[in-house]
Amino acid sequence: MLERLGVALPIIQAPMAGVSTPLLAAAVSSAGGLGSIGVGATDAAGARGMIEELRARTDRPFNVNVFAHDAPRADPAREAAWLAWLAPLFTEFEAAAPQELHTIYRSFNEDAEMLALLLETRPAIVSLHFGLPSAEAIRAMKAAGIMLLATATSLDEARRIEAAGIDAIVAQGIEAGGHRGVFDPAAPDDGLGTMALTRLLVRHTHLPVIAAGGIMDGAGIAAALDLGARAAQLGTAFIACPESAADPAYRAALAGPGADHTRLTTLISGRPARALANRFTALQASVGDRRPPDYPVAYDAGKALHAAARAKGEHGFGAQWAGQGAPLARALPAADLVATLARELAEARRAAIPRP
Ligand SMILES: Cc1cc2nc3c(=O)[nH]c(=O)nc-3n(C[C@H](O)[C@H](O)[C@H](O)COP(=O)(O)O)c2cc1C
Repeated sequence: MLERLGVALPIIQAPMAGVSTPLLAAAVSSAGGLGSIGVGATDAAGARGMIEELRARTDRPFNVNVFAHDAPRADPAREAAWLAWLAPLFTEFEAAAPQELHTIYRSFNEDAEMLALLLETRPAIVSLHFGLPSAEAIRAMKAAGIMLLATATSLDEARRIEAAGIDAIVAQGIEAGGHRGVFDPAAPDDGLGTMALTRLLVRHTHLPVIAAGGIMDGAGIAAALDLGARAAQLGTAFIACPESAADPAYRAALAGPGADHTRLTTLISGRPARALANRFTALQASVGDRRPPDYPVAYDAGKALHAAARAKGEHGFGAQWAGQGAPLARALPAADLVATLARELAEARRAAIPRP
């Protein structure tokens, strides 16, 4: 698929809503990889601006990523209980907790304007996270010549992706930074690692597989290709690039000893996601049997708490998403990072050839 698009390297810079930027994606695509933008946290107008900026910066193909989750169920009692539990933290930062919480992002599955925008602007690739849109939306995007990717964290999700006519699967292991792409966050999660998941999907589906989760360098990419993946998708590896939107506190946390510790948590957004261990993830110890509101309603509270804390100089409530390979992140300009990854990949492949 990447070859057909003229993408030279089997390297995809992961879409990272709020962190990846058109500048980052353009640099990666221009350097021979596939750059991605995440538009899951914006609306059609915001996505249009990002796509236009990307097109102005590169003539290479890129990927636009949307969130295809089920809409949250309103649960005023649970939301009020959640806010009451967080209230002492707001008090610590001399701020008032929000009175109520809102659905801050619209799912792609309910966003006719976003679908219309993608059909109009026709990015080479659209990738789907958290589930699948309607058969009609899938048909329309394919008819527009858009190639479709979707994240799977299990064989069951991969089979649903294959049955829906998607072109390739992103096999996202438990090591991955950011949100797990699980379709149903309330269902049991086997937490498969990238290695086992990639082999499962390569052997038990007919679609090309892209490995994601914990891949930080050329040796990791070579390992993914050896497992039968056609490409590797790297997120955490690109956070420290100057072209990303990560703020200074996030960059400092990623570069510090704290990067050795990541935690999978639902407390920040309402869906399981892997982040650098910080004051927010530490709340796990005291959450008891409270459940956060559905995604993305809980994220409204999480963002408000982060804003209140940051205003007082405390950065430990940020959504500092990162995968288990975080200590291997390099703060290089994206084009240099892609060139480094390509060189390391070539070296790893040469080293793998047995010498007589
Ligand atoms: C900061 C951050 C934000 C992310 N946001 C998204 C997103 O908007 N859409 C998506 O499909 N995946 C998102 N992911 C997950 C990536 O697509 C990918 O699965 C993950 O980065 C791979 O693991 P790694 O971080 O260890 O490389 C995000 C990951 C990170 C680190």
